[in-house]
Amino acid sequence: MKEALPKTVYLKDYRPPLYKVEKIHLTIKIYEGYCEVHNHMLIRKNANASPSKNNILVLDGQEIILDTVVLDEKKIAPEDYQVDEGQLVLHSVPELFELEIIGRIKPEENTALEGLYTSGSMYCTQCEAEGFRRITYYIDRPDNMALFTTRIEADKDKYPILLSNGNLTESGELDHGRHFATWHDPFPKPCYLFAMVAGKLLEKTDIFVTASGREVHLKILVEPHNIDKCDFAMASLKRAMRWDEVTYGREYDLELFHIVAVDAFNMGAMENKSLNIFNSSCVLAKPEITTDSAFERIDSIIAHEYFHNWSGNRVTCRDWFQLSLKEGFTVFRDAQYTEDTYSKTVKRIDDAVIMRTLQFAEDAGPMAHPIRPDAFIEISNFYTLTVYEKGAEVVRMIRNILGSKMFRKGSDLYFDRHDGQAVTTEDFVKAMEDASGIDLSLFSRWYHQAGTPELHIQDEYDENLKRYRLFVKQSCPETPGQKIKDPFHIPLALGLLNQKGQEVKLQPSETTKQAFNQATHVINVTKVEETFEFEEVDEKPLPSLLRDFSAPVKVHYPYTEASLIRLMAQDSDSFNRWDASQRLGRYFIFGLSEGQSIEPLFVDYIDALTGVIEDGSLDWAAKAYILTVPSLSYLLNSVEKFNVLEVHDAREIFEKRIAKALQTKFYQLFSELNTQEPYQPIQLQMAQRKLKGRVLRYLTKTADCQALSLAQTLFYETDNMTDQTYGLLAIMDSSDLSLKEKVLKEFYSQWQHEDLVVLDWFRLQCSHPDVGSLDRVQQLLAHAQFDMKNPNKVRSVIGAFANNMAQFHRKDGAGYTFLAQTVCDLDKINPQIASRMVSPLTQAHRYEDHQAKAMVKQLEYIKSSGKLSSDVFEIVTKALAFHYK
Ligand code: TRP
Ligand code: ZN
Repeated sequence: MKEALPKTVYLKDYRPPLYKVEKIHLTIKIYEGYCEVHNHMLIRKNANASPSKNNILVLDGQEIILDTVVLDEKKIAPEDYQVDEGQLVLHSVPELFELEIIGRIKPEENTALEGLYTSGSMYCTQCEAEGFRRITYYIDRPDNMALFTTRIEADKDKYPILLSNGNLTESGELDHGRHFATWHDPFPKPCYLFAMVAGKLLEKTDIFVTASGREVHLKILVEPHNIDKCDFAMASLKRAMRWDEVTYGREYDLELFHIVAVDAFNMGAMENKSLNIFNSSCVLAKPEITTDSAFERIDSIIAHEYFHNWSGNRVTCRDWFQLSLKEGFTVFRDAQYTEDTYSKTVKRIDDAVIMRTLQFAEDAGPMAHPIRPDAFIEISNFYTLTVYEKGAEVVRMIRNILGSKMFRKGSDLYFDRHDGQAVTTEDFVKAMEDASGIDLSLFSRWYHQAGTPELHIQDEYDENLKRYRLFVKQSCPETPGQKIKDPFHIPLALGLLNQKGQEVKLQPSETTKQAFNQATHVINVTKVEETFEFEEVDEKPLPSLLRDFSAPVKVHYPYTEASLIRLMAQDSDSFNRWDASQRLGRYFIFGLSEGQSIEPLFVDYIDALTGVIEDGSLDWAAKAYILTVPSLSYLLNSVEKFNVLEVHDAREIFEKRIAKALQTKFYQLFSELNTQEPYQPIQLQMAQRKLKGRVLRYLTKTADCQALSLAQTLFYETDNMTDQTYGLLAIMDSSDLSLKEKVLKEFYSQWQHEDLVVLDWFRLQCSHPDVGSLDRVQQLLAHAQFDMKNPNKVRSVIGAFANNMAQFHRKDGAGYTFLAQTVCDLDKINPQIASRMVSPLTQAHRYEDHQAKAMVKQLEYIKSSGKLSSDVFEIVTKALAFHYK
């Protein structure tokens, strides 16, 4: 029999469901080796569906051993229903009826980690996007919202804690040492928000009092050895709850809120109603084992999942094409939260780096899709940087166009109007329009056009008229399936600097008829070509463009290197000071890789960096970023084709030159920053450590023993993981091979009992440009603590290596062959993870020919290697089609 190829699903085929489940009573009985699932539903014909005479009920289901089907208390004979691949079909059902389905599943064998599965000694679930169908037959789509009651039965000794969504309504003992718990969720919800957990867990508890004075009981539940790592997450949860009340006027709506940490998890975390499930690496933390950046990440993920209670759960998605409705908005909300809690500039830079290195690449590659896609083969492949990060940038642009007050009015209207509904991105935009009276029809193109718009900007200054003009042209490259694009509505924030580096007051002329906001200097670009005029400009200004990364676009302007140095030294927008530093870095690195001399400009650049270091108006973290030269993947976006190894070498030389030139300054800075306050994960200290780590890493590159001994002191003598890691990284950046091996060994023996540190130990090695060779990766795959079934381990070894450009792209292509084989092996274990691991190979078009060819050959190999999951199939076939187009 020929296997059917996976099918494409289209947005244009969306129809409301013919039937809806109104109530579901689930009983899950956990036994050794299998679970019995009793599913009792109340189902009604959907009044809102297009009228239809047919009475066919189609339920989704996968990997379920079906036992019994009972309709209105009558058992149905197997001849009267049909079980196809992925479906259970009943041909004639009434308008309103009860359906009972009894089946069996095998969570212990579920390595895909979708549906109900085991992680260590516990049971847990992951149902987004389409995992619920692996638990029982159901109408598995987000526009089917039902009331859930869940009863769990299990051995009491092994699984003392039994959890599901909502409130605990009953619990008690059963025969044979078993017990049960029944949970009822008062909010109707789509099944992707269903969750259950059974295990031997300890809990950290707290109470949050809402703005209106209600008590919410908070619990973080973890395996016993992790109970000392919950404090930060708890504080973070309470901070996020308060923030959402203050910033969006949104209160929590139940009496309890649970977070459970699990080791085996495909993504970061999941917002299941009142029972969030977290990848343990995204919740567990304490200073001895957690770095500053991990603390910040945990904080933002806790906030993200919590914020979903409104942007996702109370108001959810009509269908999976609308994913950015909840994800783009929620990522925007968590970014705002991080900006308010830590540093605005640093968060903005971090996000711009993600956009420019990863999302722009996605937009320019085979998987390019709009934030609201209109077709997919496998929805899991669309949990992308485009839907999440670009989606958040699109919401941010709406905020920038409307202003904060109107934006809040819009979000209030959105939540009030659609509470309890499953809606579309159009409903979101409509609420913003209705609340503000601002027309967003042009703007909506961001939702259905893929690709990164580019702005080509030129200017002209008229001495006599004292008039400054900006000529702005926009374009957007073709993407698969979208040849021609309409112009985008782009909010372009800008400022003008005079010769002294001061801000020129902006005075738009009559012809620049813009809804122009003096304070923020945002001009609205909406046409293919436009001219903007400013009057009463006394001297030729230097433009500072796309301040604060006001839109996810590329800006081309003929800056001279000297004017970039001025911007880096003087701009009032710290984001653009950093941006200028990256443009300069790119200029020098490419210059070096082409064998050009970088003098005399390099001297001015170093002077300007010295100025940055001494500038009292900049915070430490911003300085650390300005001192960081662009990564290879960042550089990759600014050229057509790329010889990785040449650019890598040039980048190394450039870093060493900076290190030499600023050596004295760096030593001085290091000793100023290396103070001994007790560790706290707070903004000021984090910024200080970031800059300290940055300069230390420069210093060890100069082959200086004094620097190496500072690094060793940091590595051996600090009580926190942030400093210890900076010490370790600085040693890895040095050329002392035996010292590197020694500290790597010692680091492992010190931390071998802390799973999360072992993950970091894997990742640090595999992602390091010198240390992370294929040989080392292969040794680590054989390490006792490596486990192909654990996605965190896979990411920290295989994922880290595949994104370590200097090693992965070795000339002989061995990196590619290794990855292809690994993806094939992984696909049999966990398709979602396999499909994420394959993505570096889909970037073949960005590399020089011989490398591109070798990469494509490996894509071909995967494609022909046997039956692929729909996940890997989609990525590989789209990558090949793109390459051969
Ligand atoms: N909704 C989750 C989030 O907060 C995403 C998610 C978690 C997910 N686990 C998943 C998506 C598994 C697909 C598969 O962003
Ligand atoms: Zn999310």
